Amino acid sequence: MRVLLIGSGGREHALAVGLAADPSVDDIIAAPGNPGIAAVAKLREVVVTDAAAVAELAVEVAADLVVIGPEAPLVAGAADAVRAKGIACFGPSAAAAQLEGSKAFAKEVMVAAGVPTGRSATCTTEGEVGAALAEFGPPYVVKNDGLAAGKGVVVTDSLAVARQHAEECGRVVIEEFLDGPEVSLFVVTDGTTAVPLMPAQDFKRVGDGDSGPNTGGMGAYAPLPWAPADLVERVLAETVQPTLAEMRRRGTPFAGLLYVGLALTTNGPKVIEFNARFGDPETQVVLALLASPLGGLLHAAATGTLADLPPLQWREGAAVTVVVAGHNYPGTPRTGDVIEGGEQPGVIHAGTARRADGALVSAGGRILSATATGADLADARTAAYKLIDGITLPGAHHRTDIALAAVEGRITT
Ligand code: AMP
Ligand code: GLY
Repeated sequence: MRVLLIGSGGREHALAVGLAADPSVDDIIAAPGNPGIAAVAKLREVVVTDAAAVAELAVEVAADLVVIGPEAPLVAGAADAVRAKGIACFGPSAAAAQLEGSKAFAKEVMVAAGVPTGRSATCTTEGEVGAALAEFGPPYVVKNDGLAAGKGVVVTDSLAVARQHAEECGRVVIEEFLDGPEVSLFVVTDGTTAVPLMPAQDFKRVGDGDSGPNTGGMGAYAPLPWAPADLVERVLAETVQPTLAEMRRRGTPFAGLLYVGLALTTNGPKVIEFNARFGDPETQVVLALLASPLGGLLHAAATGTLADLPPLQWREGAAVTVVVAGHNYPGTPRTGDVIEGGEQPGVIHAGTARRADGALVSAGGRILSATATGADLADARTAAYKLIDGITLPGAHHRTDIALAAVEGRITT
């Protein structure tokens, strides 16, 4: 089959590598893609949030399947536009993507479906904000209602900082602080059947020891040796199935990738957020361990035939990915720095570009991620950092403690 992949980040590079390894995928076209993706796909230009343009491109390249990576085109209706052309599309409708597009909507669905999550209030006025902050107390959790590329959430002990973020956002969800290790669980679904992937852990804060501001994600690993044995089963029963049922009941079934961000609290797993697409950089480690053909899985989800698929197969061992971010990220990053060593196997490109002279240069906040597998987490971690050692990029920074606490057995639930 011929696949059109929409997006240009590390997640899309990992998806492209996974698709290229599937014998049923003959051809990959990526739009707009990046220099890493170019090694396995033909690149085309498209404005990803222009739903009509995405659909036209799908027709033009005669795609059998369109895979939409990022949230912005989903919220803009790209999957609806592609399906309207009679082409199978992996990714939820605009209506269903509101599970990510609006934190207030996601909370409303969770409450209606009885999903375990933190208590919350949606606030638009200073009075509502003050009342909610007083009710839930510190640490304060204030979330921009709309899409914010992983930077809309402020968790702080400072009432002034919490108020300030609320004022800047306009409409916010304020919620109780959820304590406990975080887990990202990806579920591939056709709206009814839910196929969970391997749980992973992301590192949201920019600095070692979870210091500094939130980012889009600075590294990830899988599997989670410390996770309760019944975690996936429990989250499917308590969260995923009720959410899918509620979305069907509303006439807006959710088909695509449901990303369940969880905190494993003392009262069990609670939802921190839903996303409507694969996580970045967790996808890099999850797909590095997936042995089943990726194209077949995504095509089955897109065509409502997931129930017919055999159970997923996973590789032995573990995977670790470490994100290399540009100077000043998560603030406005410096770009145009020359990258050496960015072409090694396992280096997943995100914010990279090809200069006219052929040099690989930085072009975004999260520039690349070094992804490696190993016999166990310690081996995979060593291999990922070894890969990093072979990369030179002026002004760049990365966390040095990805997967370290798990390797040292310091995570408890
Ligand atoms: P979100 O975009 O909703 O995933 O939030 C980004 C990050 O903020 C999460 O991965 C958590 O680290 C943190 N966070 C969000 N909501 C909460 C919460 N209710 N309690 C504690 N931390 C949170
Ligand atoms: N790694 C977090 C996200 O993809 O939202």
